[in-house]
Amino acid sequence: MQSPSSQIAILGGIYSNYLALEAALYDIRDRGVDAIYCLGDLGAFGPFPDRVFPLLEAFEVKCIQGNYDHSVGYALDDCHCGYTDSRDNFFAQKSYDYTLANTADASRSFLRSLPAKRQLEIGCHRLLLCHGSPKRVNEFLWESTTTDHYLDVLLDGLDKIDCVFATHTGIKWKRDLARDKQFVNVGVLGRPENDGQTCVWYTLVTDGGTGPMGIEFIPVHYDHHRLATEMATERLPEEFQQTILTGWWTTCLESLPSKERKKGRF
Ligand SMILES: [Fe+2]
Repeated sequence: MQSPSSQIAILGGIYSNYLALEAALYDIRDRGVDAIYCLGDLGAFGPFPDRVFPLLEAFEVKCIQGNYDHSVGYALDDCHCGYTDSRDNFFAQKSYDYTLANTADASRSFLRSLPAKRQLEIGCHRLLLCHGSPKRVNEFLWESTTTDHYLDVLLDGLDKIDCVFATHTGIKWKRDLARDKQFVNVGVLGRPENDGQTCVWYTLVTDGGTGPMGIEFIPVHYDHHRLATEMATERLPEEFQQTILTGWWTTCLESLPSKERKKGRF
C-alpha cells in the first residue's frame, strides 16, 4: 500500500507508442501530480518497443503487468489478448512476433518483475489498479456491455476498494456506482480511440474529499506522422499505420461490441 496522494495520473496500454508516452509524461510533470501509474501492455502494435522503458524509468512510472507484458516477458507463443476472430488474431500475431523479437532481455526481465495489480490511496479513497479486470488480466470491460450490477458485484467482492481502474479494451469510459464507488477504464496511450481523432488519452485522478474522486480524461497530441513513418520503416502492417494516421481502427474490430463498433468507420 502506497502513502495517500492527492492527485495521480494513470496511463493505459502504451503499445510501444513512445512518442505519445513522452508527450503525456511531460504534460503530467507540468501538472505536478504525486505519482504516475501504468496499467500494463507496454509493448505491442508500434515500433521499437525498447524505447518505452527508459521513459518509464526517468519519470518513475509505477507499472503493473498486462497480458502482453506477461507473454513477452516469458516468451510465450502469443499475446493472450483474448481475441476470438481469425482476422483479429492474424494481426495480433504480427504485432506480437515483432514485439517479442525486438524486446531486449533486460526489458523482458523487467516485464516479468511487474505485479499483476496494485492498491493505493487517494485521500480517503482506496484504489485497485488492474489490467483487464480484477478477475482476469484479459477481460474486456466495454462500456456498452458492462452493467452496473456486474460492477457492483465486482467491487463488493474486493475488500475496502472504492474504485477500480482498468485498461485492455482501448476505449476509455467511467461509471459512478452506488455508495460513491467508481469504475474507470482509462483507455490506452498506444493508439487512438476509433473516433476519427488522432490524439490518445490518459487519466487524472484527484482526491474528492468525502465525495467521489475527480476523474478527468486528458487528450495527448503527439507526432503521430512520425510514429506511422517509423511503423512503415519497421515493416509493421499498413493497417496499423492507417489507424495512427486517421484515428479509425482497422484491426481488432471483431472484439468490439456492436454499439462501440457503430461509432467507427469499419
Ligand atoms: Fe491488454
